[in-house]
Amino acid sequence: MKNAIIVYDSVYGNTEKVARALAEGLEKSGTVKVTLSRPDATDAGRLAEYDILLIGAPTHAWKASESIRKFLAKLSESSIKGKRVFAFDTKMKGRFAGSGASKDIQDSLSKLGADVVRERVSAIVKGKEGPLEEGAESNFTSIGLEIAKIIQ
Ligand SMILES: Cc1cc2nc3c(=O)[nH]c(=O)nc-3n(C[C@H](O)[C@H](O)[C@H](O)COP(=O)(O)O)c2cc1C
Repeated sequence: MKNAIIVYDSVYGNTEKVARALAEGLEKSGTVKVTLSRPDATDAGRLAEYDILLIGAPTHAWKASESIRKFLAKLSESSIKGKRVFAFDTKMKGRFAGSGASKDIQDSLSKLGADVVRERVSAIVKGKEGPLEEGAESNFTSIGLEIAKIIQ
């Protein structure tokens, strides 16, 4: 059995829905046990217990939300080098949305030498408070299953 931790932030609940959909896909494989955790409650010193670290954030002013940025700042090369990772976010549609928080997350993790198992993904929200676009959750459940296979 592999151990996964999904560290996510969510103000209006949309990123939480996506994180739970991702967890569902990972666990559907029958080979991955998932821990869902908020950044403030996550001990950055205990990431060695997990085979994969998945981080998701809402996009705030073109970046990851503050609590996720604070969490990323706590990570060190010694805990992240070679660690399997995946980054995701929620953001709005259109040219003002920017690249999304997951770019921030994936770039920070890559700089620390992480092994990005799958290119980052954004889920689109229709407005600031949501809802998510149709199909976003089922897409993340599929991605969870896909990642479960990759890390075996
Ligand atoms: C302070 C603030 C800044 C935001 N800035 C952006 C932005 O730069 N680009 C974007 O696409 N969405 C932006 N949004 C919309 C968020 O992407 C949206 O609220 C979020 O994806 C919803 O996720 P949540 O329900 O998990 O909080 C912003 C929202 C807030 C509250």
